[in-house]
Amino acid sequence: MAVLGIESSCDETAAAVYDGTRLLSSVIASQTDHIDFGGIVPELASRAHERVIWRTVAKALSDSGLGREDIEAIAVTEGPGLMGSLLVGLCFAKGLAIQWNKPVIGVNHIDAHIYATYIDEKPQLPFVSLVVSGGHTQIFHVTRPLQHKLMGQTRDDAAGEAFDKIGKLLGLAYPAGPQIDRLAREGDPSFYDFPRAMMKKGLDFSFSGLKTSVLYYLRDVPEQERPAFINEHLRDLCASISAAITDVLIHKLRQAVRKTGVKSVIIAGGVSANSMLREKARQMALELGASLHIPHPKYCTDNAAMIAVTGWFKVREGMFDDLQLRPYARFQWDRAIR
Ligand code: KG4
Ligand code: ZN
Repeated sequence: MAVLGIESSCDETAAAVYDGTRLLSSVIASQTDHIDFGGIVPELASRAHERVIWRTVAKALSDSGLGREDIEAIAVTEGPGLMGSLLVGLCFAKGLAIQWNKPVIGVNHIDAHIYATYIDEKPQLPFVSLVVSGGHTQIFHVTRPLQHKLMGQTRDDAAGEAFDKIGKLLGLAYPAGPQIDRLAREGDPSFYDFPRAMMKKGLDFSFSGLKTSVLYYLRDVPEQERPAFINEHLRDLCASISAAITDVLIHKLRQAVRKTGVKSVIIAGGVSANSMLREKARQMALELGASLHIPHPKYCTDNAAMIAVTGWFKVREGMFDDLQLRPYARFQWDRAIR
């Protein structure tokens, strides 16, 4: 039973085929136009999806070695994401579903990040999952596939958004997360003690204060000297900022694991590619006697393999949708797995 997955929620157009045991193909067409604009321009992103979606899906099918008759269902990201981008994927999936006479399945993008773990592993249930991406920072308690309970989430910026916005203050190009990660490896995390917000306030997060504190810190340096100061201390600043973000993430994750008593932990989403976070998570798991699962870095950022895997679980449970399927820009509880 194979499922074709399609992802177009942000700036990657992706398609993949998964058959319940193996990922048969995974194709990603990344957009680069927005780099010139310092961020994603929604209108340009939608147009780029439209340009490449057909050949991306066709390549995923041919790479899989399967024919359309072997595909059980078409899973597609329905949200959250950029509305125009989602519409391209959703309309394409519906058109294909009509043409191939297959059911369509809507997949929540955040849920899908968790299931990226299943591409290479079979984590022991129940588990706690931290999803950290450009748009979301959430902790879930997962008792069985497709059964999630939200334990905590960000009240303002997502962790990836914090990396990207702070990177912009340092003059780094979008997305700044991977560059901050690379620079931080050669820096001193104790160079400056940036604030760790809401450490004693449950499992919710807040990252907007950190961004403000970096802004004020840099503003204290006289304007003429600022570029040279940033240049001289860039590695240490990146390390100190990464330390502040990852300390909070790990602190909350540790609390969630203790509270639920689970023996496995999953970290997923774009920020789970971060090396400092991965190292701290490894130490935390060791300390708590839990097993740690983080998808391969290529499946941490947006991809369609995770959509195909989540779609496969939904097929197994008979959770099909129909052509009434609608996109949504913001996280919606009635469409997420609970
Ligand atoms: O999951 P993702 O690809 O897209 C969303 O669903 O948002 O996550 C993208 C985010 C961006 O904010 C990017 O800066 C961040 O993940 N990111 C990283 C790293 N790689 C990607 N942040 C920190 N360290 C990294 N190595
Ligand atoms: Zn994502």
